Amino acid sequence: MKVRKAVIPAAGLGTRMLPATKSIPKEMLPILDKPAIQYIVEEAVASGIEDILIITNRGKGAIEDYFDYAPELEVSLKHSNKMSTYESVRHPAQMANIFFVRQKETKGLGHAVWCAKRFVGDEPFAVLLGDDIMVGEKPVTKQLIDAAEKYNASAVGAQWVSDDAVEKYCSLKIEQLEDRIYRMFDVIEKPSPEKKFSNYAILGRYVIKPEIFSILENTPPGHGGEIQLTDGLRTLCKQSDMVAVDFDAKRHDTGNLIGFMEATMDFAIKHPEVGPWLREYVKKMK
Ligand code: G1P
Repeated sequence: MKVRKAVIPAAGLGTRMLPATKSIPKEMLPILDKPAIQYIVEEAVASGIEDILIITNRGKGAIEDYFDYAPELEVSLKHSNKMSTYESVRHPAQMANIFFVRQKETKGLGHAVWCAKRFVGDEPFAVLLGDDIMVGEKPVTKQLIDAAEKYNASAVGAQWVSDDAVEKYCSLKIEQLEDRIYRMFDVIEKPSPEKKFSNYAILGRYVIKPEIFSILENTPPGHGGEIQLTDGLRTLCKQSDMVAVDFDAKRHDTGNLIGFMEATMDFAIKHPEVGPWLREYVKKMK
């Protein structure tokens, strides 16, 4: 089982980061010196993905521009001999084969993923949610691909989360197969406390077999009146093998202010120039 394609849904309204996201796609908000979506694309590429489909909607044109060449800017940078900046500007356009499709209606994550049907065709594919930025040694998508290949199964990235977080995310019914890998039997989106299976929740990464598309076509709207990917996975895991990978990485939910700041601090503290300055600055702040 080879996973060559990835889908990045980027069609959300970004309501948790308003007013900044009124006119800027939330995926373009910078974490240090790169937009959030670049970290997601980097993870996919580092996991061996060759083709990436970004699902956008109205007002997300800045994402397309970012992954394109910028001839005027590049000529100017070259002319001023700012070669490392020039390389950093060219790089996003060269990272992978990036495709775009618009989700024409806001009908939920399941519907957004369904928009990738033609792009994906008949092979397993990865899904990376743009809000979830992972910091760890081995790319989380690669951790999932390895487990999916080993068990010839679909795979979801999961971690143990607090009671409050389960209600915001989803809850998995699982049984351990080996260190960090579980067989998945069921899942429920945003459960009330009495309905949860466990405190394991899916966090932003999936490797899914293409059978999901016909399932999503027949999945009625669920939580919030939207077609939920989780509801589709619930059906899929009952008809074909699915594993949950308790991935080894720190996950930041950059869709909210605190998660966004955490990710910024995490990258800043490791940055060769910014890191030492930040440590000193924080000390002085008290
Ligand atoms: C989405 C998924 C949910 C998942 C969560 C975190 O929810 O629907 O199952 O647990 O992402 O990755 P959202 O954050 O879009 O409400």
